[in-house]
Amino acid sequence: MVCLGNICRSPLADALLQEKVNKRGLNHIVDSAGTCDNHIGQSPDSRMTATAESFDLSINHLRARQFEVSDFDNFDLIYAMDNSNFQNILSLARNEEDERKVKMILDESHPKMQLEVPDPYFGGERGFIEVYNLLDNATDCIMNKLIKE
Ligand code: 4NP
Repeated sequence: MVCLGNICRSPLADALLQEKVNKRGLNHIVDSAGTCDNHIGQSPDSRMTATAESFDLSINHLRARQFEVSDFDNFDLIYAMDNSNFQNILSLARNEEDERKVKMILDESHPKMQLEVPDPYFGGERGFIEVYNLLDNATDCIMNKLIKE
C-alpha cells in the first residue's frame, strides 16, 4: 500500500487489509510505504489514528518508511492511492514485470472509473472518514480476490 507520506492513507489501507487477512487465517504479507522521505520513522497522523480507532482499528504501531526498488522483489501487488503515487512508483520500475505489479487501489472497488483516494492531509475530519470508507470497501474487494485465488 503506497501513498505520499505513509502517515495517512497507506497505513490505514495496510492495517485494514492485514486485519482481514488475519481474520481469514491467511498468511499474505501486507505492508505500506510512502513515495516521499519526509515522514520516515513517524507514527501515523493523529487524525488518521483517531478515525481508525473510531472504527475499532489500531494503526498506531505502524511507522512510515519510503518505497524502495526492493519492494518490487518483495511484493506481488503494489497498490497506489492516487495518480501521483502511481506515476512515482512506475518511475522506479526496472522492467515490465515490476510495472505489472502496480495498481490503483480504487480500481478494485470501482473498476474503470479511474478514482483516487483523496489526500486528507490538508482537510478536515470528514476527509479522514471518507478515506476510511473508501479503503474499507477497496480492501474488502482485494480480500474477495485473494480468497478466490
Ligand atoms: P498520505 O498523506 O500521503 O496519505 O500519508 C500526506 C501526508 C503528508 C503530506 C501530504 C499528504 N505532507 O505534505 O506532508
